[in-house]
Amino acid sequence: MIKVTNEQIEKQYRIMHAVREQNKKLDTPPKCFIRTFGCQQNEADSEQLRGMAAEMGYLRCDTPEEADLILVNTCAVREHAELRALSVTGQFKKLKEKNPALMIGVCGCMVTQEHRMAQVKKSYPYVDFLIGTGMLYKFPEILADRLSGGRRSFTVDAAEGSVAEGLPIIRESKATTFVSVMYGCNNFCSYCVVPYTRGRERSRERADIIAEVKNVIRNGAKEITLLGQNVNSYSSEGRDFADLVSEICALDGDFILRFMTSHPKDASKKLIDVMAENKKCAKQFHLPLQSGSRRVLEVMNRKYTPESYLSLVSYMREKMPDIAISSDIIVGFPGETEEEFEETLSMLRYVEFDMIFSFIYSPRPLTPAAAMECQIPPEVKSERFDRLLALQNEISLKKNLRLVGGTERVLIEGVSKNSESMLMGRADSNKLVHIPRTTDTEALIGSFADVKITKAETFALFGEIVK
Ligand code: 5AD
Ligand code: SF4
Repeated sequence: MIKVTNEQIEKQYRIMHAVREQNKKLDTPPKCFIRTFGCQQNEADSEQLRGMAAEMGYLRCDTPEEADLILVNTCAVREHAELRALSVTGQFKKLKEKNPALMIGVCGCMVTQEHRMAQVKKSYPYVDFLIGTGMLYKFPEILADRLSGGRRSFTVDAAEGSVAEGLPIIRESKATTFVSVMYGCNNFCSYCVVPYTRGRERSRERADIIAEVKNVIRNGAKEITLLGQNVNSYSSEGRDFADLVSEICALDGDFILRFMTSHPKDASKKLIDVMAENKKCAKQFHLPLQSGSRRVLEVMNRKYTPESYLSLVSYMREKMPDIAISSDIIVGFPGETEEEFEETLSMLRYVEFDMIFSFIYSPRPLTPAAAMECQIPPEVKSERFDRLLALQNEISLKKNLRLVGGTERVLIEGVSKNSESMLMGRADSNKLVHIPRTTDTEALIGSFADVKITKAETFALFGEIVK
């Protein structure tokens, strides 16, 4: 493991404090705007970037127009996400023309790829610095250098990656928090760019994780999600991920524990047993299937079969009959035949996932699948995607309707994004639950409440607080 030395971290703190002193001399405190694309790991990285920016004296702002520092934290999992990040970055050109002192940085998975790094360097000359995923801890040093007239910088080496402890974090929410347990991925699924952008697997030390979890609990965390590209590969002091989950569940505090993402080839019975035994473990499992075809799974380099996946699901349901299972599905992987796609549909009908995240296959540079000859035409991919969604929507609705009349323990998170008159929260199953917003219910934000479910839709449940 490549743990960043204390000296390096101390150096970043010294630089952060020097920048803060400079910023204090300005008439008004400078502001920082961060735009995040992609997965929860990126959200967690942005919380660390925000923490470092705050330590340097930057206030948060919610529009780029007010900002003195703009960070774009990018994703590379699909081309669409990259094009959006590039387009957003392009819009900042005008802001830089108006305010040449504006600092613009692009970080995350997209710029960790050679060709994107070169593209941003050449075609986006108003971008001041790029920082790769394994180098985020160097953000203070890179920003300070540029602020004092240094050259544009491109620090994107991803091959190794690092584990940096002790950096400041500003979390988006006190009640629902992310804690990374491992970084990187060694699986090299043939479609996936992540092993190239986030480097090799490395776990944080057990003691560092436990200290952070205790800290977030002390600060009011009610839902803790352990994050890793492949949490089942976690290992520290001879202890595996199931041991870590067990140890966290034994900590004092009224919280629930979730984790993602698990790989079906590594998710162990031991982990499922630990979940079943611990009340604090949410009865929810995200287990990406990707395809229901044995042949496609093999070409994807997933190293499990539909049968072994199903036996894992059976074991989970045997131990936890009410467990909610969600999945990721890719449609239109190179060479996927109509029959193979229908095998995926059959798996959906058989397993009855509570929810799926479905993706149209997107060829990624460097990945073996991108070089395969039998790419599926876009119209076939989108037709399959529509059929997949229609089937899953039916299943999700059917499963949600079964919950009407029952009571769910819900963590009330805040005002609903869709309606000012509703509050939203998450049940143990991670399903979205809406309740009417009143002064009484508003007082429950950030805490658990029992909710009687009165109505179900495809993507959400509705209910009322049980007095
Ligand atoms: N195209 C489409 N979907 C992809 N995913 C990963 N790589 C690709 C790709 N090239 C999906 C997988 C993964 C999720 C995070 O993104 O389903 O589980
Ligand atoms: Fe990508 Fe596969 Fe690693 Fe997940 S397990 S990050 S899909 S390579």
